[in-house]
Amino acid sequence: MAFDELAMVGDYFVVNVSSPNTPGLRELQAPGALRAILEPLVARARARGNPPVLVKLAPDLTNEDVDGIAEAAREAGAAGLVLANTTLSRPPGTHEPAAKEPGGLSGAPLLPRTIELVSRVYRQHGKALPIIGVGGVFTADDAYRLIRAGAVLVQAYTGFIYEGPTFASRLQSGLLELLDRDGLADVSQAVGRGNS
Ligand SMILES: Cc1cc2nc3c(=O)[nH]c(=O)nc-3n(C[C@H](O)[C@H](O)[C@H](O)COP(=O)(O)O)c2cc1C
Repeated sequence: MAFDELAMVGDYFVVNVSSPNTPGLRELQAPGALRAILEPLVARARARGNPPVLVKLAPDLTNEDVDGIAEAAREAGAAGLVLANTTLSRPPGTHEPAAKEPGGLSGAPLLPRTIELVSRVYRQHGKALPIIGVGGVFTADDAYRLIRAGAVLVQAYTGFIYEGPTFASRLQSGLLELLDRDGLADVSQAVGRGNS
């Protein structure tokens, strides 16, 4: 199994059952199907240095589905969730001709839904189910909003492509300014603080 070969070298592993580009894949997000993948994988991880195994979800799930899946993932031993993958929807403002193409949409239009998902799961599980927030992050403010919603880590894919190689360092210095503005000594103090 590929996982056995990689378990000792990966910092963490993500079960990606949310790519919109593989027919039928997203059906594996159903709690029963997810448990069947996760339980043996988590058992193998525990026998091999115990790297964290997370699950990556689609933003197109209903909120109620996300609740059930988060619960199932936690029970099956997932170390956290990655919220979220690209969307099959076309949020308001996506008027370009390419928006009519099939496939997953990434980038700025995802941010409101990403924040909503992160807040929802954080409200229900708090720090017991760590969240990696991803979707629509272009600025330090975007990243900060995700952290305040409950993300302990933030990823960016499309923002990095558009903003170039200095993206991460700009995000980092912007985040430090935001923490300073809010009188917080460490980014962990901002996790889950919401908009207050
Ligand atoms: C071209 C492209 C390829 C991607 N490939 C993967 C992949 O192989 N596995 C995965 O989990 N997510 C994949 N994603 C999803 C991203 O990791 C990310 O969840 C999504 O694009 C939202 O973040 P962003 O708005 O910062 O791009 C891909 C996204 C894009 C645009």
